[in-house]
Amino acid sequence: METLEAIRTRRSIRKFLTDEVPDQTLNIILEAGTWAPSGMNNQPWKFVLIKDPKMKEELSKLTKYGKIISLAPVSIVVFLDNTLSYDRVKDIQAIGACLQNMLLTIHALGLGGVWIGEILKNKEKVAQLLRVPEGCELMAVVALGKPAQPPGLGHRNPLKDAIIAVY
Ligand SMILES: Cc1cc2nc3c(=O)[nH]c(=O)nc-3n(C[C@H](O)[C@H](O)[C@H](O)COP(=O)(O)O)c2cc1C
Repeated sequence: METLEAIRTRRSIRKFLTDEVPDQTLNIILEAGTWAPSGMNNQPWKFVLIKDPKMKEELSKLTKYGKIISLAPVSIVVFLDNTLSYDRVKDIQAIGACLQNMLLTIHALGLGGVWIGEILKNKEKVAQLLRVPEGCELMAVVALGKPAQPPGLGHRNPLKDAIIAVY
């Protein structure tokens, strides 16, 4: 898929078929995440993969969007590794770029996914549940799988509303 087409047609997918996502496919998605730019190339991301039904259930209890996580054959939990921190704002921006790379790759591979941020309200509990190393701070969960719903139309405000000035 062409990059511009992928950017334009990606939509959040929140319902999935039960089909497994092969490890090879997951690796392609994660690697795309790691090709995101980062300040000083510090690559501050860390991932935990959730496939186990019991773990999926425990994780889903920590967000009101738990149903999405339960339906997804796999979720990628994305952390900022603060031990690698270079500049907090820039590190978080890099994680955002990493997340978008993964969402675009998921879409380009014919799969669907959604960025779940609501779970951040329980970031300490998630870190505890997944026993991540000290300094790893939850940034988002990406639930993914084969889409079981057509993509929404999407909506964006007119571009002119986002442009403050042209000098
Ligand atoms: C930082 C961030 C947090 C988000 N959190 C959630 C969430 O908790 N639950 C959810 O269903 N979607 C979540 N989304 C997805 C947005 O709702 C979605 O991207 C937006 O409505 C635009 O729709 P689209 O992705 O289909 O273009 C989040 C997206 C971002 C970037």
